[in-house]
Amino acid sequence: MIKVSRRKLLQTAVAIIPGFLLTGMNTAQAFSLKEAAATKLGSLVDKSSAIKVGKSHIYNGQSATGQQVKVVLTRTKKGLFAFNGACTHQGCGVSIQGSTLVCPCHGSKFKADTGAVVTGPNGSPPSSISPLGKFKVTESKGNIYIK
Ligand code: FES
Repeated sequence: MIKVSRRKLLQTAVAIIPGFLLTGMNTAQAFSLKEAAATKLGSLVDKSSAIKVGKSHIYNGQSATGQQVKVVLTRTKKGLFAFNGACTHQGCGVSIQGSTLVCPCHGSKFKADTGAVVTGPNGSPPSSISPLGKFKVTESKGNIYIK
């Protein structure tokens, strides 16, 4: 029988879990908005085929000043939309729950197709915070670009 210490088991879990989380967040397609400012189309985020109608994905990238940026791309029957994934309350990163973007910090909810506020922090009215910021999104030759 092989004996594994709790410490070794915990070290193994810590080594595996971050890789699993990164895979789920589409971080393979990191982008740079600094690069976007210098090109006509913007910064390449992903292939158009990566986002089906009715789906959203979150991408991590860098702003023109080098800060981390989270972008939510949502495709609807009306088109493709890009939102700043930072909650407009205090800046926590939103996550996708079906057709809603949910902030883990104080529970604000936003529509994934428009960025509009559904519920403000701690159940306050939608008018208590601003909708998510938007990026200009362009599709060209099977690729998605944002500016
Ligand atoms: S930071 Fe998102 S609800 Fe407070």
